[in-house]
Amino acid sequence: MKLDFLKVLVCPECKKELKLANAQWAKNEIESGDLVCSGGTHHYPIRHFIPRFVESDSYAEAFTLEWTAFRKAHLDSYTGLNWLDDEFRSFLDFPVEALKGKLVLDAGCGLGRFSEIVLNHGGRVVAVDLSYAVDAAFQNLNPRGNIFFAQADIFKLPFRSDTFDMAYSWGVLHHTPDPPSAFRNLPPLVRPGGRVMTFVYANYNKAYLATTQFYRKFTRRLPRTLLLKLCYVAVPMYYVSKIPALGPFITRLLLPVSIHPPNHRWRVGNTFDLYSPQYAFCYDHVEVFRWYENAGLTRIRPVAPDSGISYIATKPPIDDEAWNLKQSFQSFATDFLTKS
Ligand SMILES: C[S@@+](CC[C@H](N)C(=O)[O-])C[C@H]1O[C@@H](n2cnc3c(N)ncnc32)[C@H](O)[C@@H]1O
Ligand SMILES: [Zn+2]
Repeated sequence: MKLDFLKVLVCPECKKELKLANAQWAKNEIESGDLVCSGGTHHYPIRHFIPRFVESDSYAEAFTLEWTAFRKAHLDSYTGLNWLDDEFRSFLDFPVEALKGKLVLDAGCGLGRFSEIVLNHGGRVVAVDLSYAVDAAFQNLNPRGNIFFAQADIFKLPFRSDTFDMAYSWGVLHHTPDPPSAFRNLPPLVRPGGRVMTFVYANYNKAYLATTQFYRKFTRRLPRTLLLKLCYVAVPMYYVSKIPALGPFITRLLLPVSIHPPNHRWRVGNTFDLYSPQYAFCYDHVEVFRWYENAGLTRIRPVAPDSGISYIATKPPIDDEAWNLKQSFQSFATDFLTKS
């Protein structure tokens, strides 16, 4: 953990400041130690360079396995493609270059594939995950600098209010036990004028949903490592999906698997992602739009990836100048991080 991280952290229980104790340093970072809130009541260990605000990966253990098995599969730096860079740009309602110097929360970072894009554009990232995926993200991205990691629960995030220039949560909320309330935790952490962006599963394709939900009743109960092996069925199915008419029928309706192009690890991982998680809720546009409206967000704009329901919006009052001036960021967080 970098010492600077302390400046954005607060105790997730009582919101008081956290102080460092028993620190063991390695490579200019805190490898282990304790974070103790100023009331002295709550303690959080730092282990393997990451502060741990949860005791375990809880219901998200399937993600620990997925992102440990395929630690790099999605990264643009691994595929050699600009796939995620292009996607992320297309999501934003401002030029991606404006991320330079901004402080961005990746809530449910997985292996850190979008954190990498923010870093590539000069942003500073706080990457959080409930599962030990955060350790995979740490291995992938910590050498880049400008990134902090925490193992924490989106329902109890250890950050000050009005801290981030942007908070996004991509493919995460629907995997929590209560997605609308998980969402409600994000806007308070963003500074006025900052952005909130999320992606959740859509409930429009009823036939596909009926099949996957039917299979999930069984697959969720299988030993995770066995299920992961079974998901290698996505490797031959990729070629099956190419058969005109019959292929898409098989791979979308009969036995849905991921046929995502970049590499077979990505496809196997995404298939596992489909059949393993404990929670996988689906939504329509009206419901998710209301989350944003009810949170007092404005300029709510749909983002259109090929599947799912995703929006980007601004926390009022709007201060767009800050986004257009590349190096000038007004928020408390980015300001102190620059000085330190
Ligand atoms: C499908 S993955 C998406 C990862 C990443 N956002 C991406 O787009 O590659 C969902 C992630 O959400 C994390 N997650 C689930 N529940 C969470 C919670 N309550 N708090 C934080 N992260 C959570 C999982 O551990 C998993 O890494
Ligand atoms: Zn406390």
